[in-house]
Amino acid sequence: MNVVQMLWPDGLHEAVSDTVLDSMDASTAEAKGLPNEAFTDPAFLELENKTVFARSWMFAGPKSDVAEPGAVKCIEVAGRQLVMTTDRNGETRVFFNVCPHRGARLVIEDQDKAAALTCPYHGWAFGLDGSLRGRPHYHGPRDHDREGSKAERDCLFEVRSATWHDWIFVNIDGRAPAFEDYMAPAFTEYGDWDFSALRLAHYQPFEFHANWKLVVENFCDNYHVFMVHPDLHDAQDVYKRTGMRPGGVHMFNEFVIGSEGLGLTVDPDAPVMPEFPDLSPEIRDVSPFCNLFPNATMAIFPSYANMFCYEPVGVDKTIMHVWFYFMDEAVGDEQHRDGRDAVISDWAQLNAEDSGICRRLQEGRTCDAYDGGRFSPYWDAGTLHFHKQIADAMRGEGAFAR
Ligand code: FES
Ligand SMILES: [Fe+2]
Repeated sequence: MNVVQMLWPDGLHEAVSDTVLDSMDASTAEAKGLPNEAFTDPAFLELENKTVFARSWMFAGPKSDVAEPGAVKCIEVAGRQLVMTTDRNGETRVFFNVCPHRGARLVIEDQDKAAALTCPYHGWAFGLDGSLRGRPHYHGPRDHDREGSKAERDCLFEVRSATWHDWIFVNIDGRAPAFEDYMAPAFTEYGDWDFSALRLAHYQPFEFHANWKLVVENFCDNYHVFMVHPDLHDAQDVYKRTGMRPGGVHMFNEFVIGSEGLGLTVDPDAPVMPEFPDLSPEIRDVSPFCNLFPNATMAIFPSYANMFCYEPVGVDKTIMHVWFYFMDEAVGDEQHRDGRDAVISDWAQLNAEDSGICRRLQEGRTCDAYDGGRFSPYWDAGTLHFHKQIADAMRGEGAFAR
C-alpha cells in the first residue's frame, strides 16, 4: 500500500515576507524575529498546518500506546484526525482517520484488540494494515463484496510514518526528506545513549495559554532559568556550561548537570535512580535537549528521558504533552517510586513556572510597538534559528525546498 503524497501552494503570509526574512538574516544582535502576526493570527496557524507541519516529520505519539497487535489509537496531528494501528504481525502504521467510501470519520474510540476497522456508515471493513476486507451490499441488496480488494484506491489512506525507539513520527505531505536524513543530527547526538534501556512510565498534559512557537522558544532559552525557575537555579549550577547548537533544522541545547543529581531536579536530595548503561563520564554529565523541528523536544538525563510535544489547539493555546521514561528496571518498581515521583513533580513545578511566563509572552505579542524583538547573541541564537526554519518551511525554501 502506498502512502499518500500531497502538495499545497507555498504559504504566503505577510509574517514571512521578504522584508521579514531579510531582517532575520542580519547578525543575531541586529536581527528581528517573526512579527506578532505569526503568534496571533489564526490564518497563520492554518498556513502552518498546510506547510510547516505538513512538510516536516512530526512526532505522533509513543509506540508503547499501540504496542500490542490489535491496538488502535486515534490521534490528532497538525489539525488532522489520524489513527495508529498495529496489525497481527506487529507492524504499526498510521492512516488518515477517514473512510474512503463517502468520507465518514472511521474510528472514534481507541481499542486494544481490534480485528478490523468497520465504518459506522455503510459497514465497509478494513484490516489493521489498511486493506479493504469487505463491503456489505456493495453490488446491490444482499449482493455483498466479500472478497475485499487490495486495490490501492479501496484501501485506507496511509500516512508516511517512521519509528525511532518508542517514538512514532509522521510526514503528512509524504514528500519530506527520508526520515534518516531529517533526523540524522539527533541520531548522531544521541548515538552513545542506549535508548533501548528506556520504558514509558508516565504521561501528563499541560495547558499553555500561548502560541505553540512560544512554548518551543522557551525550550531554546536557558537565559530565563535564574528568573523563572529560582528553585532550580538554587539547586543546580545550570550556567556552569550552557549553549545552543543548530543541527540541521533542529536545535540542541546543552548544559552541564550536577553529577549527583537525577537530572534537571529542583530537589538536591531526591533519590538516585538507575542510569543508562555504559554512559561515559563526558557524555553523562552533559544533558542534551533537542528541539526536534517543528514541535517536539527530547530531554535526556542520566536516569530518565522526557519527550515533549506541543500541540496547537488554537493560535494562542497549546497542549504540551509530556511522556516520562525511566530505565526499565526503575519502572513499576516500588523501590524507585519516590525517585519517579520526584522527577514528575519537579517537572510539574517547572512547567507551571514556564506556563506562567509563556502566557505573558503571548500577551506581549498583542503590543503594536513590538516588531519581532531583539536577540541576545549568546542566548537567543536558537530562537532565531527556529524562526528561520518556520519561515523556510512555510515558503518551501531552504531545507524544505522540494
Ligand atoms: S462512508 Fe464508510 S462505508 Fe460508506
Ligand atoms: Fe523554563
